[in-house]
Amino acid sequence: METVLSGIRPTGNLHLGNYFGAVKNFVKMQHKNKCFFFIADYHSLTTHPTPADLHEGVKNVLAEYLACGLDPDVATIYIQSDIPEIPELYLLLNMIAYKGELERTASFKEKIRKQPENVNAGLLTYPVLMAADILIHRSHKVPVGKDQEQHLEMARKIARRFNSMFKTDWFPEPKAYNFGEELIKIPGLDGSGKMGKSEGNGIYLIEEPKSIRKKIMRAVTDSGPTEKNQTMPDSIQNLFTIMNAVSEQETIDFFRDKYNNCEIRYGDLKKQLAEDVINFTEPIREKILEIKSDSAYLQRVVNQGAEQARESAKKTIDEVRRIIGFKPF
Ligand code: TRP
Repeated sequence: METVLSGIRPTGNLHLGNYFGAVKNFVKMQHKNKCFFFIADYHSLTTHPTPADLHEGVKNVLAEYLACGLDPDVATIYIQSDIPEIPELYLLLNMIAYKGELERTASFKEKIRKQPENVNAGLLTYPVLMAADILIHRSHKVPVGKDQEQHLEMARKIARRFNSMFKTDWFPEPKAYNFGEELIKIPGLDGSGKMGKSEGNGIYLIEEPKSIRKKIMRAVTDSGPTEKNQTMPDSIQNLFTIMNAVSEQETIDFFRDKYNNCEIRYGDLKKQLAEDVINFTEPIREKILEIKSDSAYLQRVVNQGAEQARESAKKTIDEVRRIIGFKPF
């Protein structure tokens, strides 16, 4: 069975884009592979969150993952900072990662531009920590979005370099996990591309119905079709894409016909879409709130995850230390 690892920075609540673009697929994937899902709280330190935000962020993602159906008895769900073997491997890998190649990564260059006042060494070595996350379980596959592909490439490079330097094949080269057809890209409500890309263009799983209605009613539309069966502009297509994810086929067909016959009223379409989104999110929202208020359960999940992840991590780090040449006297 292949080992699959997925990481997420705890810097925001999960939105519909995260759900249909990843988490929904994770729920299925966990039964077909040996899966590790972890929350990359060390990575989030690069942007200096407050202590309260750091903790709240981790708790949110954890509760949201669990509410969506990630099962701690099926997959290993853990918090990065609970696994001391990860920073140890990070330290060791830092010795074979080069300043020049790290400075050339797109994400580092972007951070220099975006936060020139905080270009810390953690930002520079962000890809090394990510390589440690991946290699600590000798993962074969990592589901990543476009923005993380270069980091995954770096993890492969580091794995190859370690293997050739120490004449071993200890680390497999981690490849991208591809969901193919099953991946649904949910657009944002402001027509500016992917959901989550910009502030306020997302619908969150934890969002209250009232707020969801308001956001959807405010979504950008045009002045309406003027010819039968004309192609939809992006703003309208976006609403239908969300509808495709959450509504009954009948509803989708109904509004598509209305559009094609130039009889559509966007107000009606949005009202229906808002109710269908709420129907979808409301049970998840309730679950999130229930889980978040159950500290004993969260504690159990986190402890169990840490124990399993450390068992796997220890095997790797022991072997890595041996390969590098650390020996007991
Ligand atoms: N860098 C990833 C992101 O921002 C999060 C992450 C950290 C990650 N470590 C990882 C993803 C290891 C996959 C594997 O989205």
